[in-house]
Amino acid sequence: MLKMNYWTDKWDLHEDICPCDVHVNEWIAAQGLRNKLIYHFGTGTHHVVGIEQARNGSGNAVIAITASIEEYQAYIKLVTENAGVAKSYLAYFGDIYLTNPRLLPDFDIVTMVHLCEFFFPNTASAEYGGLTDRKVLDLFTDKTRSGGHILFYMRSIGFEKARPIVAAWEQEARVERVGEFKTLLVYRKK
Ligand SMILES: C[S@@+](CC[C@H](N)C(=O)[O-])C[C@H]1O[C@@H](n2cnc3c(N)ncnc32)[C@H](O)[C@@H]1O
Repeated sequence: MLKMNYWTDKWDLHEDICPCDVHVNEWIAAQGLRNKLIYHFGTGTHHVVGIEQARNGSGNAVIAITASIEEYQAYIKLVTENAGVAKSYLAYFGDIYLTNPRLLPDFDIVTMVHLCEFFFPNTASAEYGGLTDRKVLDLFTDKTRSGGHILFYMRSIGFEKARPIVAAWEQEARVERVGEFKTLLVYRKK
């Protein structure tokens, strides 16, 4: 049996080292986006995107992925104790490179903030059956509604690898660059 490439670590909120989730929440608030469906790449143990969107009265709902067993356990504890959060925040455990588009709806906002960070040597092998980073980006672009937004994190440890992938995608996909917001790079789907 081939094991899933899960993350053996966990990530608490370090706004100084990795402010991307806080900036995602701030960007959504600054745009005044309400009643949107958001896909978030990387929950952290803190689940700050799901919690903030559930509690801020925006009506936004979040589906987020974690590949960390501890982060997923933190989600179970969170929603066990907070029915209100459970109603609009769904975290699931998986490897984003194994995403099956049939299992996901379309989104208004997609965060690709950790693109290129967790590609393993075997990820795109025939045996493992995973996607490349470009294919992950293309899949989630397809899943973004027209007029919706795709966000990248410019301080990601994978951003130097992601930069040429994003540049090629910008030329080839039906997207346009909106600009920067704090540490985020924002695109809009045409
Ligand atoms: C450095 S942490 C950052 C967490 C959070 N976004 C933040 O900035 O505080 C990286 C996140 O990516 C998730 N992750 C790692 N490998 C992944 C994979 N293969 N598929 C999906 N998520 C993954 C981890 O579970 C973790 O939530």
